[in-house]
Amino acid sequence: MKLCQVLGIVALGVASFVIGILIGRFAITPDLPGWLKSMSSDGEPKYRSELQKEIQADKIEQNLRYFSSKPHIAGSTQDEDVLASHIYQTWQSSLHGAKIYNYTVLLSYPNSTDPNYVAIVSSDGVESDVSEKVEKILSADQNDPTVVNPFNAYSPAGVIVGNPVYVNYGAVEDFHYLTRNLSMNLTGTVAIARYGKIFRGDKVKNGQTFGCAGMILYSDPADYVAGDLDRVFPDDWWLPGTGAQRGTVLNTDGDPLTPFYPATKSAFFLDEKDINLPLIPVTPIGYNDAEKYLSKMAGNEAPGSWKGKLNLIYRVGPGFAPPLEERKLKLYVKSYNVKRTIRNVIGIIEGQYEADRYVVLGNHRDAWVFGAIDPSSGTATMMELSRAMSRMLERGWRPRRSILFCSWGAEEYGLIGSTEWIEEMGKVLGPRTVAYLNVDLSLAGNSTLRALATPILHKLLFEAAKKVENPNPEEVKAGRKTVFDTWVANMPSSNNPSIPRVGDLGSGSDYSAFLQILGISAADVRYTYDQKYALSSYPMYHSVYETMDLVSRLMDRGFKYHQAVARLWGEMALRLSDDVILSLDCVQYAVTMLRIISDVEEAYGPLLHSKSITPDSVKEAAKEFEAAAQALHRRAENVNKVNPLEVRKINDQLMLLERAFVDPLGVAGNLLYRHVIYAPNQHNIYAASSFPGLAAALFDIENDPDQETRWLQVQKELSILAYTITSAANTMRDHRTIGEEGVQQ
Ligand SMILES: *[C@@H]1O[C@H](CO)[C@@H](O)[C@H](O)[C@H]1NC(C)=O
Ligand SMILES: *[C@@H]1O[C@H](CO)[C@@H](O)[C@H](O)[C@H]1NC(C)=O
Ligand SMILES: *[C@@H]1O[C@H](CO)[C@@H](O)[C@H](O)[C@H]1NC(C)=O
Ligand SMILES: *[C@@H]1O[C@H](CO)[C@@H](O)[C@H](O)[C@H]1NC(C)=O
Ligand SMILES: *[C@@H]1O[C@H](CO)[C@@H](O)[C@H](O)[C@H]1NC(C)=O
Ligand SMILES: [Zn+2]
Repeated sequence: MKLCQVLGIVALGVASFVIGILIGRFAITPDLPGWLKSMSSDGEPKYRSELQKEIQADKIEQNLRYFSSKPHIAGSTQDEDVLASHIYQTWQSSLHGAKIYNYTVLLSYPNSTDPNYVAIVSSDGVESDVSEKVEKILSADQNDPTVVNPFNAYSPAGVIVGNPVYVNYGAVEDFHYLTRNLSMNLTGTVAIARYGKIFRGDKVKNGQTFGCAGMILYSDPADYVAGDLDRVFPDDWWLPGTGAQRGTVLNTDGDPLTPFYPATKSAFFLDEKDINLPLIPVTPIGYNDAEKYLSKMAGNEAPGSWKGKLNLIYRVGPGFAPPLEERKLKLYVKSYNVKRTIRNVIGIIEGQYEADRYVVLGNHRDAWVFGAIDPSSGTATMMELSRAMSRMLERGWRPRRSILFCSWGAEEYGLIGSTEWIEEMGKVLGPRTVAYLNVDLSLAGNSTLRALATPILHKLLFEAAKKVENPNPEEVKAGRKTVFDTWVANMPSSNNPSIPRVGDLGSGSDYSAFLQILGISAADVRYTYDQKYALSSYPMYHSVYETMDLVSRLMDRGFKYHQAVARLWGEMALRLSDDVILSLDCVQYAVTMLRIISDVEEAYGPLLHSKSITPDSVKEAAKEFEAAAQALHRRAENVNKVNPLEVRKINDQLMLLERAFVDPLGVAGNLLYRHVIYAPNQHNIYAASSFPGLAAALFDIENDPDQETRWLQVQKELSILAYTITSAANTMRDHRTIGEEGVQQ
């Protein structure tokens, strides 16, 4: 043996000994250097309970009083200057930093001196039964000169005179009933549609498709008053007959003049005449006014499911009954579109170890009027959560990852602020964002929690809801101590009654671009009303009556429900920012997909079978996905937490899984919605479709004259699903999967 060999063996021995000691030191004994020890452990639970204690109901009440004191519609001085600056300054001084993002976008307003209205008109132009041009003021805090009268944003201006037809909710099926079952020709008519069930923009789109010349949207008490019609606001929280629901009827998201690009200084703005705006005038009215028109209609009695709660016989028209058969319905709209600057305010708490990973929290700031529910109940909560976190920073807490607070502008017009920001910052956010947690509003009612989320966040939602005290003392007395307990009792999952039902994310709030364009996992939470009421939304939705008085007197005396939402939001944010391994549950995605496949088989099995088509390839892909998800979670459990690179490797796989569901070509060719598993329903963007491409291909397929093309489309959609799910499964596997045959761990 040569000397160098001897030395080599000795050196090897010494090296092994040293490595052994190091491994022992770092892996077995807790005697790590302080920074590594802290970096490899989850955030201390004491911080999470401290955060909950720090969140105060009376501070949320003060915030709401401030934010809802004046109307603050998008583009107004109050929203873009006063409130945006207030938020900016608050975050600038209490968090690690804040920034304002400005966009110049197309908005729409009613003419304040020439209001929109509806009337019955004779052939020589004499008007009767003219609708209210302003909503009647019912309590002192609604009195403000900057209240914007009821209107539907982006309706074109126009004066339409035509025969009225009642079109129920204005859904495709409703129009099919009139045109197919009753053989009505709707060309040139003025449709009266009730609000509810589907997004109002889809109602207008349908009216346009079926030839209507204009549309009136009204709130039927069947959808907005569960109590007696003589006990409405101000006596109770139900919608009075003078209330009208404002809202956008734009069918795209983001600034309509700069689709898919941010409306910044260098933007190329399209011409208004070249974009996809609604083509028929439309305006909203209350049920007192609607009654005047509906009670005078001619034609067939409407089917049972079309009947509302007004004391009249619902008839479909067309036209008015004698003696008014010569009269028409007139729709007078003088709204206009205009470019204005809107702002997002972003506040940041910088993470200690993974500052380049963002946990994003957001709420919109703009309201149709006072917005005490939508959105300021959420804004009041977000501001209190950020204050509580800033107090914790003073006491020495630092999150592992960065936390962003976002105050969005112009959500009501079509998710404009959040969409523009995703367009501008997408390349930064896509690879670095852990999840987006939205609270559009905190409080639609005080009965139970309601959550929408992608499956990857369900488990975290449940765990967080179990940590939050039940704000309802009656419920606590009945043994339901936490928010989770009431939630599961009120909304049990139909597949597993031991967990609550979590809804799927459609569109309709600021999570949309995060999920649909970038593939960022998202959730939206709020407290809501008792589901037995079967309301279309909380009663005062988008009316002038959404004020502090309504919330503090009739919906959340004491602000404990707001507080519970803030606590839940904070608990989720801290878990996502402070856990070493991200609390994202990939297996739930597999479970959910397999359930969707069995639903598809149940609903369309025989029809598919008759065309010799099966969803088997999709099912196989989902099973592979399930195995890969289980393997990833096993690796996550066994990961060496003191090795930051190993930890980040696993976390990146968890964080990026949702990205794999994005098809850059869009679902069924729609570039606004790209998530292949969940996207807004083609006929109602509020609702989500599971497997939306397939759902669109199968919708009303039996009535399509071109059967061959449609069935090829079904096959194409199944193939896209199988491919996408397999791709997603591959992202969860170990790195070797790409170079080794048959590596299936
Ligand atoms: C946005 O506009 C505000 C008010 O004009 C201005 O103070 C701010 O600097 C602008 N922000 C950016 C990023 O341009
Ligand atoms: C509002 O209506 C008045 C009266 O018809 C008109 O003079 C004015 O130009 C309109 N304003 C806008 C912004 O269209
Ligand atoms: C309309 O016609 C279809 C097909 O003939 C029928 O199935 C449906 O029940 C009818 N709808 C109503 C409300 O009568
Ligand atoms: C409906 O009526 C319009 C004219 O009012 C006519 O041009 C159109 O062809 C009619 N449509 C059908 C399907 O009959
Ligand atoms: C909860 O809401 C109901 C109306 O649905 C109201 O009667 C009740 O007083 C509210 N509770 C609180 C604490 O505000
Ligand atoms: Zn909202």
